Amino acid sequence: MALLFRSSIDSEARWKPQLTRLMPELQVRIWPEIGDPAEIDYALVWRPEPGLLASLPKLKLILSLGAGVDHILCDPELPSGVPIARLVDPYMTDAMSEYIVLQVLRLHRQDLDYRAQQQAEIWRELDQKNAVERTVGILGFGELGQDAAHKLTQLGFDVALWGRHPRSVEGLLGFHGSAGLPALLARTQILVCLLPLTGETAGILNARAFSMLPNGAALVNAARGGHLVEEDLLDALARGRLSAAVLDVFRDEPLPAGHPFWHHPRIIVTPHVAAATHPPTAAPIILENIRRFEQGRALLHQVDVARGY
Ligand code: NAP
Ligand code: GLV
Repeated sequence: MALLFRSSIDSEARWKPQLTRLMPELQVRIWPEIGDPAEIDYALVWRPEPGLLASLPKLKLILSLGAGVDHILCDPELPSGVPIARLVDPYMTDAMSEYIVLQVLRLHRQDLDYRAQQQAEIWRELDQKNAVERTVGILGFGELGQDAAHKLTQLGFDVALWGRHPRSVEGLLGFHGSAGLPALLARTQILVCLLPLTGETAGILNARAFSMLPNGAALVNAARGGHLVEEDLLDALARGRLSAAVLDVFRDEPLPAGHPFWHHPRIIVTPHVAAATHPPTAAPIILENIRRFEQGRALLHQVDVARGY
C-alpha cells in the first residue's frame, strides 16, 4: 500500500513519522520522489500541482490535509470518480473556535480603538455593551460554525448561523439559503465567515452583503480569501459602513508585500493560522479513512464533489 504525500505548505518531517508509526505497512512516498506512479493507492495533499492526481493511474482515494477541499477541486484535471475525504479533527475545531472567540471578543471590546488610543497616549473610556447585547452572525452552519457558535453563546453573545439547508440544533438560531441571508445580515453586528469556498460562496463578502449589515458592523473571515471582495471591504471601511475586519485568509497567500491590508488601521491580519492541521491528532483520522476504504466501509467526511464541499 503506497501513499503520496504532497503539501505546498507543510513538511514531510511532521507527517511521515506519525503515519508510519501508526500504519507500518503504508509506504509514504514524498513528492516528487514517488517512484512508479502506478503503485500509488492514496494521496494525502494540500494544493497539489494541477494534473498530479491525474497522473496516478491506480489512485483509490484523495485525502485532504485540511478541512477545506477547494485546493483540490480547483485542479482542472482532477480525476473523476476518485472519492475525496476532507479532514475533520476536533483539535482543529477547538483551535478555530479559540480564534473566533478571541477575534469576536477583540472586536466586541473595541480593542483596535484602545490600541490606537494607547499609541496616542489617550486615556478615554468608550461606551461598552455586554456580550448579551452583541449580535454575531456566522456564515457556515457546519463543523466549525456550530462549535464556534456554542462557545460564543456560552459567553453570552446573541448568535445566529447561516447554511444552505435548514438545520435544527438545540440552542442555535439558524437561517438558510439565499432568502435567509438578508435576515441574518440585518441582525448581525459581528459577521464571521466559516463557509467552504465554492462556486456559490465565492465573493459572498461583498458590497451588497456589507450594505445589509447594521452600520459599523465588523467582519471576521477565517474561511478563504476567495470569499472576500477585497476592494469592497476597503471601500466599506473607508465609508465607515464597516468598522473593522479581522482576516486570516487572503486571495493571494502569503499576503503580498505592499498590500493595503498590511498597514490598514482597521484591519487585523493573521497568516492563515486560525486552525492549522496538527499531525499527531490528524494522522489517526486520515489512517482511519484508509482502513475504512480498504474494508469497503463508509468514509468519514466524504466530499460531495458536485456540491463543492
Ligand atoms: P462544513 O462542516 O462542510 O460546513 C460548511 C457549512 O457551509 C455548512 O453549514 C453548509 O451548509 C454551509 N454552506 C456551504 N455552501 C453554502 C451556500 N452556498 N450557502 C449557504 N451555506 C453554505 O465545513 P467546516 O468544517 O465547518 O469548514 C468550513 C471551512 O473553513 C472550510 O471549508 C475551510 O475553507 C475553512 N477553514 C479555514 C481554516 C483556517 O485555518 N483559516 C481552517 C479550517 C477550515 P449546509 O449545512 O446546509 O450543508
Ligand atoms: C485550512 O485552511 C483548512 O482548510 O483546514
